[in-house]
Amino acid sequence: MWGRELSASTKFSPGSKGRLTKHDLDRFPDDTLFDRLARTVCEAGCLPRKELYEAWEMARRVRRLFRGGRVVDLGGGHGLLAQAMLLLDDSSPNALVIDKALPASSAKLHDVLVDAWPRLKGRIAFVAGSIDDVEFLETDIVVSSHACGALTDRVLDRAATARARVAVLPCCHDLDSGDDGGLSGWVDGAVAMDIVRALRLEQQGYRIWTQTIPEDITPKNRLLLGEPRAVQPIPRQSV
Ligand SMILES: C[S@@+](CC[C@H](N)C(=O)[O-])C[C@H]1O[C@@H](n2cnc3c(N)ncnc32)[C@H](O)[C@@H]1O
Repeated sequence: MWGRELSASTKFSPGSKGRLTKHDLDRFPDDTLFDRLARTVCEAGCLPRKELYEAWEMARRVRRLFRGGRVVDLGGGHGLLAQAMLLLDDSSPNALVIDKALPASSAKLHDVLVDAWPRLKGRIAFVAGSIDDVEFLETDIVVSSHACGALTDRVLDRAATARARVAVLPCCHDLDSGDDGGLSGWVDGAVAMDIVRALRLEQQGYRIWTQTIPEDITPKNRLLLGEPRAVQPIPRQSV
């Protein structure tokens, strides 16, 4: 299930911002978790198509590496990323979705997901607020899909301060104010900024993974994941 690639029947502009509706149900005929999730999203009729594919592709990559702990979805919008993570792997007891402007339709989407998967009931908290209002736990998995510009840096900093596992899919790189590490003479400025982010996380004592999700879903497709390296015990000095 986890390693499953998207079926041929779903090969229709996954990067479209058009909403998935009941008219799209036939595009997802299979009895796979992805197709069942997509059909449920179609029933809700409120989610842009690209958000389904982005959330799914990010969730499955995060879940290959990180299990257990609370899922904290920052700038989470409809919160599909957090909910897909719980559907892919029930090892996390609950999830928190924070967004300073939660879409009104996030409740509608959550309701149809709970109807389809009653085990989600009572496990997802939606909070309208800033990422700066959240207390992070060391055991959390902090995720953020397309936190615009410097918001991605704040997500990484806050997660690293708590020594939590983290995964971000950066977007809206501000080439004027962002840190490109002086690398943009060699590589694209946005790539340079994401390299600096990855190396900073590594220098903060994290093991990092750099991956991509398919470019036809979004050109902002670089996924950075990090997990704190275990602290090596200091050997006792013999007297
Ligand atoms: C580009 S959207 C991404 C939404 C969702 N993660 C997705 O991938 O579809 C960025 C989101 O971040 C939210 N946001 C911006 N600044 C924020 C802040 N300081 N605290 C919480 N959410 C914030 C916005 O309201 C918006 O919903």
